[in-house]
Amino acid sequence: MKTRVFTIDASKDLKAQIAPAAAIIKNGGVVAFPTETVYGLGANAYDANAVKKIFEAKKRPADDPLIVHVSDNSMVTGLADAGAISDVARKLMATFWPGPLTIVVKKSRAVPGVVTSGLDTVAIRMPSHPVARALIEISGVPIAAPSANLFERPSPTKASHVLTDLDGRIDAVIDGGSADIGVESTIIDISGEKSLLLRPGGVPLEKLEELIGAIEIHPSVREKYFYGFARSPGMKLKHYAPDARLVLVEGTRDRVVESIKKLAADSIKDGKKTAILSCTGAIQVDGAISKQLGNDQAQIAKNLFDAFREMNALKIDVIIAECTTEDGLGLAIMNRLRKAAEKIVRA
Ligand code: TXA
Ligand code: MG
Repeated sequence: MKTRVFTIDASKDLKAQIAPAAAIIKNGGVVAFPTETVYGLGANAYDANAVKKIFEAKKRPADDPLIVHVSDNSMVTGLADAGAISDVARKLMATFWPGPLTIVVKKSRAVPGVVTSGLDTVAIRMPSHPVARALIEISGVPIAAPSANLFERPSPTKASHVLTDLDGRIDAVIDGGSADIGVESTIIDISGEKSLLLRPGGVPLEKLEELIGAIEIHPSVREKYFYGFARSPGMKLKHYAPDARLVLVEGTRDRVVESIKKLAADSIKDGKKTAILSCTGAIQVDGAISKQLGNDQAQIAKNLFDAFREMNALKIDVIIAECTTEDGLGLAIMNRLRKAAEKIVRA
């Protein structure tokens, strides 16, 4: 199939530019589109055949459910079970929507099982990106959309990343520039008695707890793999990985830097093309490519997946990455680094 590219011109009317992509969604096709977190690959959430195409294009296993994106609260009523929208849900929606927060609630029967991988819950989010909002609005249906990457690869933060993975496999991509946040939405499961953080993301845990009190953290958030009971099937899988072998070094700053320098020098001695991704300042080692991800958590989050893809293009064999602290966006950054890592070294 030929993948069409719709490039948004900010100086022109947005709705007219989105209309052809919305028509593809209405006709059961799949379209990649920008959100404030990462690019998504969308289809009409009520059309099981269209949603199946998402799984095929991404080579995503069927047991990994999708997030459904809405453009206004009235769409939630059709997706969630009557009574599923509790006071906690209402507070979260009122405070963090539109924005990078996904809530998991009991689903209505109208949501096809392929969207939720057979679970009795559905993940819902209202993105803030104007292009995403317009696409949902004009399509007139909620849009099921995972990140628009091939399974296990880093999430795309630019249209070019989407095309690297999915050119020829999807109907279209809307190029709306770089995603602002760079890591995916925070997912909170409020379908049970206790609120449970399933994935840290664009809304920091601290902000959620300020609003609704203590939130339990799913063990998979801080571990690379989790084989126990998974409320979010996708969590147990390898994720976000660059082509290179990624070694993540955790510990206190001085020891981490010392350890990274040694690991990089050894890797270069072994003849490996080596890169260092740092969080606190550039770390230089002769023969290694050195890249500082940013000066603060927001910059690091924004650049992380882009840096992974840049390392793929440079055919790097080994990436040695420095940890960051787990406050604010740091919990999401460390979660993605741990999932992507082949090895975690404690310095
Ligand atoms: O920022 C984002 O959330 C992006 C943009 C496109 O909105 N989307 C995204 O989707 O990251 P995806 O598919 O890459 O990650 C969705 C995660 C998966 O790990 C999946 O297991 C979990 O959401 N999920 C979906 N439905 C769920 C449910 N009913 N219960 C628990 N987890 C669910
Ligand atoms: Mg994903």
